[in-house]
Amino acid sequence: MAESPKTFEMAERLRKLPPYLFAEIDKKKREARARGADLIDMGIGDPDLPTPPHIIEALKRSAENAANHRYPDYEGLLSFRTAVAQWYKSRFGVTLNPESEALTLIGSKEGTAHMPLAWVNPGDVVLVPDPGYPVYAAGTWFAGGEVHFMPLLRKNGFLPDLDAIPADVARRAKLMYLNYPNNPTAAVVTGDFFAKVVEFARKYGIIVCHDAMYSELRFDGYIPSSFLETPGAMEVGVEFHSLSKTYSMTGWRLGFCVGNARYLSGLGKIKTNVDSGVFQAVQEAGIAALRIFPRSTAACTRSGATWWWRGSSRSAGRWTCPRPPSSCGRPCPRASTRAVSPRACSTRWVASSRRGWASVPRARASTAWPSPSTPSVSPRPWSG
Ligand SMILES: Cc1ncc(COP(=O)(O)O)c(C=O)c1O
Repeated sequence: MAESPKTFEMAERLRKLPPYLFAEIDKKKREARARGADLIDMGIGDPDLPTPPHIIEALKRSAENAANHRYPDYEGLLSFRTAVAQWYKSRFGVTLNPESEALTLIGSKEGTAHMPLAWVNPGDVVLVPDPGYPVYAAGTWFAGGEVHFMPLLRKNGFLPDLDAIPADVARRAKLMYLNYPNNPTAAVVTGDFFAKVVEFARKYGIIVCHDAMYSELRFDGYIPSSFLETPGAMEVGVEFHSLSKTYSMTGWRLGFCVGNARYLSGLGKIKTNVDSGVFQAVQEAGIAALRIFPRSTAACTRSGATWWWRGSSRSAGRWTCPRPPSSCGRPCPRASTRAVSPRACSTRWVASSRRGWASVPRARASTAWPSPSTPSVSPRPWSG
């Protein structure tokens, strides 16, 4: 008699996971569109500007180089990591050793998801902001860790209240995820919050994983800081970053993690075992990207507008917090109008920022993408 085929349940760790938020939102969007609805997309933040042409040109050149067709270096090209270190120095004044304090990632999502595998044992606690990017909790559960959610409340400026974390939980904690400028609340770090985080991490021996993904989305002259600018931060933490939003490169899958060399080495060890790095041509295109500091782009995209809209709709509804800062260096003309939709805001600004890439007044030259004919330049200081 033929044996009945074995039926498999998914692994426990997958059954424990809630459905991935953005995949669920995508499903609902498809259903609504099929019903003919005209949607304003409040799902995943995906810039609606194309990747700037000089980056695409760099990819084309690098893709033709046969040396790039082989397996990449696991930790990333040293030239890419050097460009990252220069970008950090110019943008934040933070000095990094590109050999040991920078690691190339397949997008920052990959790194944030893998970090607990390197440092969390079953039963260890990971401190995760709530609401927050779902990957922090998912990565923790994959590693067998326990998530302790830190509520982000309006009364605390959407910063976690470190004093509210029970001491026994803090003692069992291995990692703490933070994300400022924050998704989804659009809050920014105020006062000496990062200094308190360093003190807390030292007291309890916690690795701080700061997701600085949105550091270039800013408004009204506000310039976000890096966690690594805080005295002592290099001893206790790492920072995740990505070219996805800043350079309209979400589909390219290129990010990086910088900071404490030992903590990075753990993440690197996981990566050598589960992936084989980022296509070198993409990293070389990333170098071309990092050489230019955009100022008049990210917040002018629909994702920037959506981000602002999330903040402003809080004031209109049950949440209230200050309107988030803008990244285009000038106040959004519609910022005081509550009824503006992301689409209305972005359409206008996308048009003006596209013009800005090729021709900008001299005084603002460092704030725009170069035209394709512009030769590569060394990193320029942020001119916010
Ligand atoms: C807070 C946050 N972190 C990380 C990511 C992942 O970005 P990527 O993997 O494209 O670098 C996102 C994407 O939306 C995000 O919102």
